[in-house]
Amino acid sequence: MESGVQSPEKVKPKTLLPKFGPGAGAGEIPKKPEGPIEPSMSDPSGERAAPPRRVSNPSELAKGLVPSIIDIDEPAALDVQGLDLWYGTMQALHQITLVIPEHRVTAFIGPSGCGKSTLLRSFNRMNDLVDNVRITGSVLLDGKNVFDPDIDVNMLRRRIGMVFQKSNPFPKSIFENVAYGLQVEGRTRKSELHDIVVRSLQRVGLWDEVKDRLDRSALDLSGGQQQRLCIARAIAVEPEIVLMDEPCSALDPIATSKVEELIEELKHDFTIVIVTHNMQQAARVSDYTAFLWLGRVVEYDQTQTIFTNPSQQLTEDYITGRFG
Ligand SMILES: Nc1ncnc2c1ncn2[C@@H]1O[C@H](COP(=O)(O)OP(=O)(O)OP(=O)(O)O)[C@@H](O)[C@H]1O
Ligand SMILES: [Mg+2]
Repeated sequence: MESGVQSPEKVKPKTLLPKFGPGAGAGEIPKKPEGPIEPSMSDPSGERAAPPRRVSNPSELAKGLVPSIIDIDEPAALDVQGLDLWYGTMQALHQITLVIPEHRVTAFIGPSGCGKSTLLRSFNRMNDLVDNVRITGSVLLDGKNVFDPDIDVNMLRRRIGMVFQKSNPFPKSIFENVAYGLQVEGRTRKSELHDIVVRSLQRVGLWDEVKDRLDRSALDLSGGQQQRLCIARAIAVEPEIVLMDEPCSALDPIATSKVEELIEELKHDFTIVIVTHNMQQAARVSDYTAFLWLGRVVEYDQTQTIFTNPSQQLTEDYITGRFG
């Protein structure tokens, strides 16, 4: 996408990120500091482990919360407007309004249960698979609400692919896994399938590792390879948007960094939305970050701003590990 709009600058110093704590290592879940942070007597440097604790009172803040949502001056891949979602009587999303820009990486962060996966799954209507879900508001894809009754959900999911937390290759060969979506579409010409499988595996950096064993079971691959295979499977059908729900949380740091490099590459061809509990990962891979809390977007801005100069105290408290 060449719109003449400035790309968000790469994230530079993440001044608010703690040296340890949330997301200090790949795949870590933020941990609440235990008790007030005082200058440590056991720390020979005498330095504090983290800035002074200024925990906001979440329930008090919820009452007066006015979200800070940036206006994104870039073409929208998805335009979410006033989205509310209930599981039965429990409202899981409240008035979500934000734009997911094309060919960018957008990260959703926030404490467990805040609605990140629910929001992500709304985009390609994966929540349809859950009983008793009620949704109001809209998610516009090319100006059309994905919740409209005349939407072809299979076509929607072809345009908006998904990669899950736990890699889920089918118990089939490596080749068949990548070719699966194409075959479902009735594309069975061998040479076409072969070309697309090769290209997809090359795009995820897996080709050299598997080219001699395409007919072997995908389940024999390592966890990191399986996750890249699942990404290859997702992109083989050329979706416009790829949703990734904690794609690295089960991976070791080396496999994680491969997937992160891959995300950087893929955004040239796809729009990526990633849920992560790893603050460092969000800061490294994403252009924009939405901080969710109790089913609301508290703040949405360029990632650099979120991690260096957030508008909301609650955002700062979360990314510096004061709660979560
Ligand atoms: N299938 C479901 N049925 C009923 N409630 C659900 C369902 N899925 C999620 N919820 C509830 O909706 C809320 C948001 O859940 P969601 O899974 O979206 O959170 P999350 O931010 O992705 O959390 P995590 O970081 O733990 O993955 C939670 O209160 C959760 O219990
Ligand atoms: Mg989740």
